[in-house]
Amino acid sequence: MALVTSKKMFEMAYKNGYAIGAFNVNNMEIVQGITEACKEENAPVILQVSKGARAYANHTYLVKLVEAAVIECPNIPVVLHLDHGPDFETCKSCIDGGFTSVMIDGSHLSFKENIEVTKRVVEYAHDHGVVVEGELGTLAGIEDEVAVEHGKESYTKPEEVEEFVTKTGVDSLAIAIGTSHGAYKFKPEQCTRNEKGILVPPALRFDILEEVCNRLPNFPIVLHGSSSVPQEYVQMVNTFGGKMPDAIGVPEEQLRQAAKLSVCKINIDSDLRLAMTGTIRKFFAEQPSKFDPREYLKPARANIKEIVRHKLVNVLGCAGKADECK
Ligand code: G3H
Ligand code: 13P
Ligand code: ZN
Repeated sequence: MALVTSKKMFEMAYKNGYAIGAFNVNNMEIVQGITEACKEENAPVILQVSKGARAYANHTYLVKLVEAAVIECPNIPVVLHLDHGPDFETCKSCIDGGFTSVMIDGSHLSFKENIEVTKRVVEYAHDHGVVVEGELGTLAGIEDEVAVEHGKESYTKPEEVEEFVTKTGVDSLAIAIGTSHGAYKFKPEQCTRNEKGILVPPALRFDILEEVCNRLPNFPIVLHGSSSVPQEYVQMVNTFGGKMPDAIGVPEEQLRQAAKLSVCKINIDSDLRLAMTGTIRKFFAEQPSKFDPREYLKPARANIKEIVRHKLVNVLGCAGKADECK
């Protein structure tokens, strides 16, 4: 099937208590790892491209890689989404260039300016059959050039969401409830230790999510910064020459719980980066004389596939849901 928008996916995800995985893509191996897992698990998927990904790999290469995946996986619905669109022009370029969904990230602007730019993108996108994600509230961490320090992030104010959604006409809304971008989501001093000595981060603000959900019934909510930073990959990186002290992510049970509420899209990028980097570091440490990129990219792609499979089955709950999302 051709690329689709996320409309039906979100409808079914909302109704049936699961979330669609939105995975960032930057090269062929990442596209293949994600979509092979989705094909085998019969799961709908959102492949998302950031401004940085377009600068790295080129818009056309990324669109064509995603189109190739659609041909190879004819039975699963696939969305091609712009992640963190910084302005109207970037969104327009993606809408004109084959994307079926865009995010306009006006979260760093004033409420009024965020509404203005989001509304402008929605008008253009809807005229072209494309859906739009907006954002209210800021996450800590780094996304492209926008860096927000820990402690300077702001949770979404539930009292703003109805006005934002009504005035802009957005199709989904990203909110800030304590997730953040990257592999260092929480400082160790924010965490407590469980009986096994493992650091447990503070819980997400489910009270805000629930209030948003009450104010916007049947409306799809998006969570960014939702990697769980699997400790086996952090350890793999650190064992084989890397240095990632205190990398901590969002506990998967909390994401599962969010998916059962109104969260219909969960963004995951850092976990795939960790899997790829850990695997390649291990490969080189164990086989220092190898230099064929196919040899080290192959196990990296295989581990991306397995981590995505785990997310689909155990975290997002969207495995086996491809047919109902068409
Ligand atoms: O939220 C940002 C995504 O993880 C994409 O990261 O801007 O480095 O491509 P990037
Ligand atoms: P992570 O850094 O937690 O993977 O978040 C990715 C993201 O939100 C992309 O928009
Ligand atoms: Zn994000």
